[in-house]
Amino acid sequence: LARLKVKLQNGLRQFPDFPEPGILFEDIMPLFASHDLHSSLITALELQVASVFGTTTGEKSDIDVIVGLESRGFLFGPTLALRLGAGFVPVRKKGKLPGECATETFKKEYGEDVFQMQSDAIKPGQKVVIVDDIIATGGTAAAAGNLVQKLGGKLLGYIFMMELDFLKGRDKLNAPVHTLFSGQDAALNS
Ligand code: PRP
Ligand code: MG
Repeated sequence: LARLKVKLQNGLRQFPDFPEPGILFEDIMPLFASHDLHSSLITALELQVASVFGTTTGEKSDIDVIVGLESRGFLFGPTLALRLGAGFVPVRKKGKLPGECATETFKKEYGEDVFQMQSDAIKPGQKVVIVDDIIATGGTAAAAGNLVQKLGGKLLGYIFMMELDFLKGRDKLNAPVHTLFSGQDAALNS
């Protein structure tokens, strides 16, 4: 796993002053553009989840559902769910999902955003892990956690590719937080 992480970290690119001056943007897209890096990324996440949430690679995991957050959580959430033998459920921005939905409003850097999940997407008691690319201020992840708990899901924890740890986003979360890479001296938002 350590070797995989180094390889993946070398595949990330940083763009200064994007999307605005003063922000160093962490670009994760090269990890998907290369078949080799993409495959390594999914394997690294699978091993990480297995080690922290007590599942065994190659066997059906204890995790019932992987919840991925629009948009970048959709890039790897479904693939990870397949590997783990779990279902995949999206958290989407308001107005995109049909039927009865649970709704959660949260703070972004500028203004507010609203997330939704379909009310029947998670059955009470199902074991859930939330995935996203980055935790920055933690507002996005906290809102997703509240949605899972509103639907009666048992939130085992969170897995992120990266953490901007100086923003202390994990302090907003009430379930265990794990990251593939940490200590990124960078800021990301959009
Ligand atoms: C980014 C990132 C995380 C979130 C982290 O998403 O993908 O989801 O910000 O920020 P926070 O911890 O401060 O809440 P963004 O809202 O930019 O949208 P995207 O995933 O659709 O690109
Ligand atoms: Mg996002």
